[in-house]
Amino acid sequence: MEKYPGKKNIAVLISGRGSNLKSLIKYSNKKKSLIKIKLVISNNINAKGLEIAKKSKINNQYIKYSNKKNFENRSLKLLKKNKIDLICLAGFMKILSKTFIKKFSKPILNIHPSLLPKYKGLNTHYKVIKNKEKYSGATVHIVNKELDSGKIIIQEQVKILKSDNVETLEKKVLKIEHKIYPKAIIKLLTNS
Ligand code: GAR
Repeated sequence: MEKYPGKKNIAVLISGRGSNLKSLIKYSNKKKSLIKIKLVISNNINAKGLEIAKKSKINNQYIKYSNKKNFENRSLKLLKKNKIDLICLAGFMKILSKTFIKKFSKPILNIHPSLLPKYKGLNTHYKVIKNKEKYSGATVHIVNKELDSGKIIIQEQVKILKSDNVETLEKKVLKIEHKIYPKAIIKLLTNS
């Protein structure tokens, strides 16, 4: 009998620390979770997230990012082999091509550390602090061909205090990220 009847097969793509991966593993281990994490792919051989996956006995693969086409083709093969239904980008710092998105043909989610559509791209916390914003937050959205621009699934905000700096803001936002990523998956998979 299948161990995870009805659960969707997820692949998580990472480039580094893997704290969001950890939160997704925690959710996937719940009896009533809707997902099974079948595969973790990293473009960075030193990503701490690869260790996290290993410890949880999840198939983890480093794929060298010699060029986009090569990385994406090798990833697509693995995604197909593992019958992946949904990709979750979790601190994956490369931009997927239009061709990859089209070829995969199933949903791809990304988590971004700002209140999109504000502050797309890199160094969000630095920019937010520099612009003296009163609020920041995190967003989970569908990946489309435009950077950080797909349909928003969930967004949650956090108040920025005068005493906050890039590090304290990052910590606060990360806490929100860990909470909303599993929620976004549930929302997507249940159409709620
Ligand atoms: C997270 O803050 C995530 O939102 C951000 O990288 C961090 C990864 O942390 N992603 C992006 O900026 C994507 N453009 P983690 O490796 O501990 O999950």
